[in-house]
Order: sequence, then structure tokens, then C-alpha cells
Amino acid sequence: MIRYSTDPEQLARVAADLFAELARQQVATGGCCAVVLAGGETPRRTYQLLAQEPWRSSIPWDRLQFFWGDERCVPANDPRSNQLMARTALLDRLALTSEQLHPIRSDLPAGLAAEAYQTELQRFFGNKPPRFDLVLLGLGDDGHTASLLPGSAVLAEQVRWTAVTRRPEEPFDRVTLTAPLINQAKRILFLVAGAAKAAVLRHLLEADEPPYPARLIRPVDGELHWLVDREAAALLKRSIAAVPGDGLC
Ligand code: 6PG
Repeated sequence: MIRYSTDPEQLARVAADLFAELARQQVATGGCCAVVLAGGETPRRTYQLLAQEPWRSSIPWDRLQFFWGDERCVPANDPRSNQLMARTALLDRLALTSEQLHPIRSDLPAGLAAEAYQTELQRFFGNKPPRFDLVLLGLGDDGHTASLLPGSAVLAEQVRWTAVTRRPEEPFDRVTLTAPLINQAKRILFLVAGAAKAAVLRHLLEADEPPYPARLIRPVDGELHWLVDREAAALLKRSIAAVPGDGLC
């Protein structure tokens, strides 16, 4: 399902509304909601809105558990940190307990951080299937998502839930959830805004090539929602009402 917004601000509002609705539904039926937060810039405004009214008081925050889709192995106070972005925009503005936060240990060497995250995930899910209730993802203009980067070995990972990757041009490693784990989720929301994403979005939604990493994101039996703004959707051939459920927001 694709939800079209006119601009990044409206996309953030649509995403905040959907996050709140899905979190309430999940808590009402399941008692709690395990959320995977996306990094990068696109979700920042959504996180900021969620910390404000009317969204803030509409969500049972004490029943939510927060994980990250990926992290850059930089100090926790580094502006490139995904954890710092989410804490600044949302988490530190809420009365959450430390038990609700499951950050990737970017203070550790990447291999140890990935191991520690895998261990934390196994502890959290215990004997239950490793199924996140709500996963937020961004999309890079090279077709990556989380830190499932083009050409990286993690794209072939079918067993482990976490892995180490690295962009050649970056002076730091990354730790990421793997596609098989993400695909177990009940609901996956891609947030995509801006003209720079138009070409990759058209290929992803309306062509079979190139083999972008984001193509690996196919929920096993969950829902996949695309929240896009006008600029990102500019090259899509499908009209807004072409597919049931698609719509202008
Ligand atoms: C990261 C993110 C990454 C991000 C995309 C889109 O750590 O880089 O997890 O997957 O979501 O690169 O980033 P923007 O939202 O900044 O365009």
C-alpha cells in the first residue's frame, strides 16, 4: 500500500498518525509493541511529532519497546548516531525506562556490537518467534535500507539476525538487522521523501531491476506500507488510485 503525501511535513504527520494507530492496535491486542526505529534524516520529523500533542498522549508509551534497524559505530554523542537522533527527537522527551530501550552498542567494536545485539534480541524474544510489531525503514538513493548496503555480504545472510557492514567511503562500521529478521515483522513502514529518491522508488515499485537491497524487504506474512511524498513519487507511473488501498493523504 502506498500513501502519497504532498511534502515531507505532511509525510511526517501521516507517519505519526499511522505509527500511533498501529501502536495502539498492537498494545490493545498484544499487550505491548516492539518497534524498530529507522535512522537517517527522513524519520526525524515524525519522531519529533510523536513527542508532541496530539500524538504524545494518544500512544501507550509504557507498553512500547524500542530497537534500531541499524547503527553507525560512532560515539553515542556523535551527530551521525541513529540512537542520538531518535533520543533527541523523541525518546528522551518521553518518560521511558531504560528497560524499554535496546540500542545497538556502538561503543563496542562492530563485531562485538553485532553479537551483543543478537544476544539482546534472543533474550527479548525468548522462545517466541522473533517478530517485531512495527518496523520503520528509510530508503537510500542507492536502494539500501537499514544498513543493507549494495554489494555487502549481509544481503545473502539467511540465518543471523544482525551483521556488520561498512560503506567504503565512511570511516566507521555499521551494525544492521538482516532482511530475514526484518521480514518477520507484522508491519513495515518505508518513509521516503525527496526528489533524490524518485528514481530508486520507481525501480523498486515498478520494475524488477536493479537488484536493490530494499527489494529484500518482503514481509513473510505482515503488511508493507510505503509513505512517500510528491517528489519521491514523481516518476511513478501508477496513478494514485491505481491500486486498492493507495491514496492521497
Ligand atoms: C542509516 C539509515 C539508512 C537511512 C537511509 C535514508 O543509518 O543510514 O538507517 O538506512 O534510512 O540512508 O536516509 P535519509 O532518510 O537520511 O534519506
